[in-house]
Order: sequence, then structure tokens, then C-alpha cells
Amino acid sequence: MAKSTKLILAIDTSCDETAAAVTKGVKILSNIIASQTQIHKKYGGVEPLMAKREHQRLIDPVVGKSLEQAGVSIEEIDAIAVTQGPGLAIALEIGVDKAKRLAKKYDKPLIAVNHMEGHLISAFAQDKDGSFGISNPEFPAIGLLVSGGHTELVLMKNFGKYELVGQTLDDAAGECFDKVARILDLDYPGGPALSKLAKKGDENAFDFPIPMKSSGDLNFSFSGLKTACLYASQELGKLSRKQKADFAASFEKSAVAHLVNKLSTAVRTYKPKMVLIGGGVINNEKLQEKIKKEMGYADTPVYVPFNNNLLTDNAAMIAVAAYYMAKRGKFVKDPSKLDRVPNLSLENS
Ligand code: KG4
Ligand code: ZN
Repeated sequence: MAKSTKLILAIDTSCDETAAAVTKGVKILSNIIASQTQIHKKYGGVEPLMAKREHQRLIDPVVGKSLEQAGVSIEEIDAIAVTQGPGLAIALEIGVDKAKRLAKKYDKPLIAVNHMEGHLISAFAQDKDGSFGISNPEFPAIGLLVSGGHTELVLMKNFGKYELVGQTLDDAAGECFDKVARILDLDYPGGPALSKLAKKGDENAFDFPIPMKSSGDLNFSFSGLKTACLYASQELGKLSRKQKADFAASFEKSAVAHLVNKLSTAVRTYKPKMVLIGGGVINNEKLQEKIKKEMGYADTPVYVPFNNNLLTDNAAMIAVAAYYMAKRGKFVKDPSKLDRVPNLSLENS
């Protein structure tokens, strides 16, 4: 059965995006994402109960649309995949419940996917003609995963063989971008607004610290940088437009330097054959530019998903992870017992 798993319907409801996708192997036939950003905007962050209610409202139409856009009927699907964790418990359970019901009703095998494995191998996703994506993977690889909830360095020895070699000791990178954006009174979600403003600023105007510069390990820390920004803004008082742009650019410079320093240390330590990057913060152009430049010096190829909608939360990356899991025969043994695991670790995938 494992070898014949071609058409996969995947669902992700780990946070504030209701997402469903259909892939043929790793080729994306549809990738539907219903974002709840506008709803959570007034709370300045994800409000769990609102997220649950929205997932309940959107899950059926989003799954229906993913099949329709792929031109595939549910009967033709070979396996159903769903994000089991990590994520918000009450959000995850909407997706898990839907996947279980579909698997039972249509008698399909079920695959439980780790959301972070999805981010890690999102660059393997191909468009429907197979024109983009990684064709000749070489291992070991180092993955840098940066999102609103996670900041991790993962050593990938092969599909399913992961070791977490670095992680944040406090805030995630995206969370820090969002908090500093709030200090600057920017729109939610703050990361994109801050990086847009930073383009007009002078990155050397303020001298913010680069966290854990000589710690020697592969962990991250963003709370000190966030606090330095808070104190600086309190000292400066009301900022002019120009000062705000300078502030954003200077903060971005430190945050990017921190991420790139740690990635470079990981590459020197593990000498990977390739670097994989994923997660919402990778949308940051400065970060991508610096990573590519540094990895160029290190002579290590960097792979980024071919489309930006594969960086933020989506279900196509879950389908791609599920495809490789199916090849390894990793199906859920008793689908009726599948439950969400909000703090699921990548190392046991
Ligand atoms: O992966 P993602 O969509 O959701 C999580 O799983 O968390 O990541 C969202 C995070 C948010 O914190 C958002 O502000 C950040 O990614 N982000 C950015 C940029 N675009 C999104 N951070 C910095 N620069 C950006 N251009
Ligand atoms: Zn995510």
C-alpha cells in the first residue's frame, strides 16, 4: 500500500489558518488557506476560542474547495493527512476530528504529521508540473525553522531522522518581530509591517544588541533584544516617521544577524550538504538575502519553498511530509484513537 500512496488530502488547523491541500506525490494540485488574521487583529494576537470557532466554520468549505480545485474526488484520494501537533490544542482538534471522520467514512488510511516536519521539508514541494522543488536531496541537511511559535535548528539525517540541535530559550523570532512592531504601533501581524517599514530606515541608526553572539551553542534568545527595544522606545518618547523606520531597520539588523550567526555555526559544526529554510519569518527579505550570502561563502546550497504561501502555515507542506511518511509505512494504526498532541516533538516523528 505504501508505494501506491499518490493522491493525498492534507489538513492543517494548528494555529490561525484553516488549511487543506491535495498533492500528487509532492506535486501540489491545490493549496487552500483561509486566514483568520483580520479576526485576531483586534486582540493583537491569536485568540484561541475565536480560532476554534473559525476553524469549525471554515473546515468543510476549505476541504471541499481543495478537492474541487485539484479536480479530484474524495473517493480517488489514497490517504488523508492531518497535523497532529505542535499547535493550539483547541485548534488542532478541529482538523484531527475532520480527518478522522473522513478516513472512517471513505475508508482511507490516515497519516498524522508533525507541523514542524511540514515546515522543514516545505522546500521539497513541487508545482503541479514538477518544475520547482528539490530534485536531488543530499543529507545531512540543516533546517532553520522560524515562525511565530518556533525558532529551531534541525539536523536532518534523512526523511524521518531528525535531531533538534538548537532552539529558542524564550521568545520565538516571529513573536519578537510582532512585539517590537507593537512597540512601534504597527498593524498586526507585525512582522510584515515592520520589515516593510525597515526598508526605508537606516539600520545603523540605533545600536541594538545581537543576542548570544559568543555563546558558542546553537540556541536562540529574543527576549533581551525585545527588552532593549522597549527601553529605547521609552527613552525616546514619541518617534517621528523617520525614527520609526530607523528603529525598525536597526532591530531587524540585530534579529537577522542573530539567526544567521547561529545558522552559520550549525553549518560549520555539522557540514551539511544542504540548508533548508522554512516558516513565516523566512518571508523577511533581509533574512533570506543574508542567509543566501553567508551560505554562498560556506559553499552550501540553500533551498527555499518555491512559493511564499508554503512559508506561512499551509497544508501542502503537511501533504509533502505525509507523502514521505507513507513511503516509510508510517500510517496511524488505530485512526479512532488519534488525538492532537499540542507539544509534539519532531525527534519522535
Ligand atoms: O509560520 P507562520 O505563518 O505561523 C506560525 O506557525 O507561527 O509565522 C508567522 C510569523 C509571525 O510572527 C509574522 O509576524 C512573521 O511570521 N512574519 C515575518 C514576516 N512575515 C511574516 N517576520 C518578519 N518579517 C516578515 N516579512
Ligand atoms: Zn507554522
